This record gives sequence, structure tokens and C-alpha cells, in this order.
Amino acid sequence: MSEALRVGIAGLGTVGASVVRLVTERAAELTRQCGRPISIVAVAARDRSRDRGISLDGMEWFDDPVALAKSKDIDVFVELIGGNEGPAREAVKAALDAGHHVVTANKALLAKHGLALADAAEKRGVLLNYEAAVAGGIPVIKTMRESLAGNTVLRVFGILNGTCNYILTRMEAEGISFEDCLADAQRLGYAEADPTFDIEGNDTAHKLAILTSLAFGTKIAADDIYMEGISNITQADIRAASELGYRIKLLGVAQKTETGIEQRVHPTMVPTASVIAQVHGVTNAVAIETDILGELLLSGPGAGGNATASAVIGDIADIAKSRPGFQHGPVFGRPAKELAPCKKAKMRAHAGGYFIRLTVYDRTGVFAGLARRMADNDISLESIVQHSDRDTGSDRKTVILVTHETTEAAVRKAIDGVTKDGHLVDTPQVIRIERAG
Ligand code: NDP
Ligand code: HSE
Repeated sequence: MSEALRVGIAGLGTVGASVVRLVTERAAELTRQCGRPISIVAVAARDRSRDRGISLDGMEWFDDPVALAKSKDIDVFVELIGGNEGPAREAVKAALDAGHHVVTANKALLAKHGLALADAAEKRGVLLNYEAAVAGGIPVIKTMRESLAGNTVLRVFGILNGTCNYILTRMEAEGISFEDCLADAQRLGYAEADPTFDIEGNDTAHKLAILTSLAFGTKIAADDIYMEGISNITQADIRAASELGYRIKLLGVAQKTETGIEQRVHPTMVPTASVIAQVHGVTNAVAIETDILGELLLSGPGAGGNATASAVIGDIADIAKSRPGFQHGPVFGRPAKELAPCKKAKMRAHAGGYFIRLTVYDRTGVFAGLARRMADNDISLESIVQHSDRDTGSDRKTVILVTHETTEAAVRKAIDGVTKDGHLVDTPQVIRIERAG
């Protein structure tokens, strides 16, 4: 039997505690699969006295994750702290500099410093594994990095945030308020330490930035991502979508266009009959379209302790199975130094269908005015639905427009025009429609 792989884990929260529990419980099976034991020899967190419901017997305690990362008594450093700076970044850097393999679930860190960290790992000849950073337990990184070799990716898109999908699903199915759904997602361990990262789209953007790099062989360009979250999605939008045969999902989409690589995160209408519309709750789904394979859809649990721990343990097991002296594959599928710049496509050039919900004053000429502004911008309408509240004495009505394919620029100009006409009671709701199988 080979020597045990010595693992140090920093962060014993939702994910870290699950990793410790599962590795301990499944030690014998992991040893059989890896050909050597996996031994958690040291851990780090802030509060040593906190009851985490796991046994830390035989594991050395570190208050300082950087000290753990530098320890000569570990082979692998597992970072499960979170955050793109501070202790997480310092500890990962220190571990790589010390020649340790690293496993992390930290998409915020990779979206900001992934290139530099990948370069450091590749120079040292160590592994930087991050399966859990995108779509929780779904093995999408391995799929894109290894199984799709030789394929040219055309588009990658998906539901990448479990918290948002959980909220949207329960708002639609149970009519529960946004705030109550978010509180439940936090209680279940799905949300980030700062949940605005989930609901405003940052977390999806971090994951999309990683997928874009793997898909197109480009440098990570998280700052180039167009981003809208779900905090202004209302029951009225969800009901209107349903009446029109759509469901609202927060999608991350990356695709090559004539003007460059489009990366966008926003609430999206997908046809109710599409597979992605059937992805409910904390489940994530990633669709990858390639020239050889066609469309591949992976779905599975996207957040939570066990789901994420499953991916972290898979990454640790890969390290346990790797042979000393063997050249590891590059972190983002191509050597970090060879990743191309990510040429940003203009969001205003984005082409697609749009759902536009307007609350307007219920008076003569408004409808004609709306139609004129759409026509002036070459926007062809697939449907128009209006709900008048005159019976209730209200002086306003809701108008819902669904467009055929048009551009972001045309929609923005049309809405500016409608706003100038003075017909609007409040800010229009614009939701993009995505082609989805
Ligand atoms: P938690 O907030 O539950 O846990 C964070 C842990 O880090 C805690 O144990 C905390 O210590 C420790 N920690 C924080 N600051 C320090 C510090 N300065 N020094 C030492 N330890 C510190 O986070 P999660 O487990 O939910 O997430 C961990 C990572 O995994 C994040 O990057 C997250 O984005 C990612 N992730 C999370 C998923 C999820 O479903 N939760 C899914 C996929 C990825 P203490 O307990 O003592 O306070
Ligand atoms: N907060 C994240 C989510 C955790 O809800 O998807 C998984 O990355």
C-alpha cells in the first residue's frame, strides 16, 4: 500500500465540515479507489470552540490558514474559506509556492486571480483542482477540460446558481415571497456568505468566467460580463411568463459572436417545454454546444454541503491517484501563458427575443404610441397582451410585449422613446428570451 495522501483543509463551514465527515466515513472505499489512504492531517478555521458536528480527532488545528498552507506535513491544501482576497488568496498562493497541490471551491478567487494561480501551479508542476467552484456537484470542469478535447465549443450556458434557482422555483410553485425563499436558501447552506453575490448575479458571473475560459481557450475576463440579478423579478413577471409559455431562470451564457465573445448573466425567459425549464430548486444545469458532439446537458445538485463536498473529494481523489513526476494537464485546459485575450462582444449587439412588461397610463393613444416606437426601431412583435384595471377604477394598465429576434440596442432605443413619450408609470421590465432545447 502506498503512503497516505496528507490533506490540510482550511474552512470548516457548510462545505468543509461535509468534506471532513465524508472523507472520514468513507476512508476504506476511498483507499480502495485511490490505491492509497486519504488522511486529513490538519484543519484551519476561525473558531476552535465551535461545535461542527464532526470529529477532528487526530487533526492538527491551525488558527492561521496560511500557516497550514505552508506546512511541510501536508501534500494537498484544500481551501474552503471563500472570498477573492484575504486569507483564501494568501493561503492558496502560499500552498502553491510551497509545492503543494491545491483544491478549492472558490469561484470568486478563480474569477479574479485564476490566471496567476494557474500560472503558479503550472510552473511548480502541481495540480490546482476546482471542480466544486462551478455548478456544485456537477462534474462540468472535468467534462470541459478532458472529455471534450478536440471539440470546438460554440455556446455554453446554464443555471449556475442554486440559490437563485431555488428562489425562482419556490416563488413560482408556491407563491412565496422573494425574502422568505432567500432566508430558506441561507438556512440550507446554499447561499454565499454575502447573499447579494447570489441574487445580483455575481456568483453566476464568477462561474461563467471560468466556463468561458475553458470553452474558448481565453483568459478569464470576469469584469467583461454583462450582469443583472433576480432581485427585481416579481410575481407579476413570473405569472406573465407562465401565461406566455415561458419560465424565468437566471442564466449565464457565453457564446462566440461576430463582434467577439458575449458573456452575460441575467434573468431569462426559457420556453416552458425546454429541458432547462424543468430544472428546479437548487439543481443546476450546464448546456455545452460543440461542433462534434452537438448539445450536451449536465444537471445535478448545484449547492449545499454534500453536493459540493462530492466534487471536492473527487478532486482530492484525482490527486491521490496521480503519479509523482507525471506531467499534469493545464489548469484551464490550455497552458495559462497560451490563453488568448477574451475579445468582448458589445452587449448592445446582442440579438434575441425580448419580453417587455410596461405599466402605462390607461388613456387614448398610448397603445398606438408603443406600437410606433417599436416599429420605428424595426422591432417586430410576436405578441401583445394588455390587462386593463379600469374596472377597479385604476388609471393604469399593464402591457406585455414579446418581440421577435431584435437587438439590445433597438430595444433600449424603443424604451427610451416610450419613456420620453410620458406614458410610463414606472420603470419597464425587460427580460431576454433565450433559445434553449
Ligand atoms: P462557510 O461560510 O459556511 O464557511 C467558511 C469557513 O471558513 C468557516 O469554517 C470559517 O471559520 C472559515 N474562515 C473564514 N474566515 C477565516 C479565516 N480568516 N481564517 C480561517 N478560517 C476562516 O462557507 P461555505 O462552506 O458555504 O463555502 C466555502 C467555499 O465554498 C466558498 O468559496 C464558497 O463560495 C464555496 N462554495 C460553497 C458552496 C455551498 O453550497 N455552500 C457550493 C460551492 C462552492 P469558522 O467556521 O470558524 O467561522
Ligand atoms: N451560493 C452558491 C449557489 C453556492 O447558490 O449556487 C454554489 O456555488
